[in-house]
Formats: sequence, C-alpha cells, structure tokens
Amino acid sequence: MRAADLPEDFDHVLYSQEEVASRIAEIATVIDHDYAGREPLLVGVLNGAVMTMADLCRAMKVHCQMDWMAVSSYGAGTKSSGVVRILKDLTTDIKDRDVLIVEDIIDTGLTLSYLVDNLRTREPASLEIMAMFRKPEALTAPVDVKYIGYDIPNEFVVGFGLDYAGRYRNLTDVATLAEHVYK
Ligand code: IMP
Repeated sequence: MRAADLPEDFDHVLYSQEEVASRIAEIATVIDHDYAGREPLLVGVLNGAVMTMADLCRAMKVHCQMDWMAVSSYGAGTKSSGVVRILKDLTTDIKDRDVLIVEDIIDTGLTLSYLVDNLRTREPASLEIMAMFRKPEALTAPVDVKYIGYDIPNEFVVGFGLDYAGRYRNLTDVATLAEHVYK
C-alpha cells in the first residue's frame, strides 16, 4: 500500500518507498564493509522491524543469520508504556557471535537500552544496533546506535513496518497519521 492509495488517512509523507530503499542500500554497504570476513547474527525486534530486516539483509552481501525477539511495546495507543518485557526470546546462542540488533524506530530508547543490557549478559563477541528511524527529541534512555536510517521529528509515524493499532505496517511509504484516525 502506498500513501496515495489512502490519502485521507495521512497528514504528510516523511519518506517515500524509494527514499527508504536507497537509504537501506547505503547502510547495507557500510555494514558489508564493517563486517567483511565475519558472519553477523541479525536480531530483529518483532513486529516493527520485519520490513527493515527483510530489506536490509537482502541488500547486504556478507553472509548473515537471522533471529527474532519480541518485546512489549506500545499497546493500541501512541505513547510508550515504559515497561519492557520479553515476549519471545532468541533461539540462537549468541555467546561469541557478532550480533547486530535491527530495530524499526527508537523513540524513548527504553526498549533498546533494555535489550542491549539483556543481550550483553549473554557475552556476544560484539553487539551493535541498526535502527531505521530515531526521534532524538524523545530519547530518555541512552542508546549507542551504530547505523541509523533517519532522525525524525518527535511525531507518531506509520509505514515500513510501523503500525498504529496494528494497521499501516504494509504502507511502503513512511507517513504521519491524519488526526481523525487516532482522535
Ligand atoms: P521506545 O522504547 O520508546 O524507544 O519505543 C520503541 C518502540 O515503540 C518501537 O520499536 C515501536 O514499536 C514503537 N514506536 C515508537 N515510536 C513509534 C512511532 O512513531 N510509530 C509506530 N511505532 C512507534
């Protein structure tokens, strides 16, 4: 689905499908360079990171593996609950592995700072983060992100895996919602 298919649902488009794709390709090139000769384990954070993971790993040229975690995040609303809980853990032992967390968006940073602390106790050889979007104004927990797609304003966005009440993950552009959708 493109934003133009449902124009009444969106306020404005931040990034088009084409812009997102070319940014992902740029990041994949940097990751290929950084991980040359190694085989990273990409850890995707469900559900939002599905699209970022799918596009990033297919744009990469180094071998990699994938695993997934699910953590509690927002409910049906647009504000962080501040509570992080593991709903689905990794199936891979990450001890001595080069782990790259793949995340859709960093808002407060609470989810990722919890995840990083948790994964570090499992003694990976290295642990880095790739996030497609980040809202610097909303950041309350410190997170050291190595690869970032875009820094965006502190507004709620949907598309490219990001949802509102379960919808819009299949929107290929990244857009803000029209007020009538959430009011
Ligand atoms: P944080 O813990 O506050 O950094 O929140 C991270 C998670 O909240 C992300 O993985 C998303 O699932 C969700 N989230 C944060 N901001 C947005 C947004 O603008 N749109 C959709 N989901 C969001």
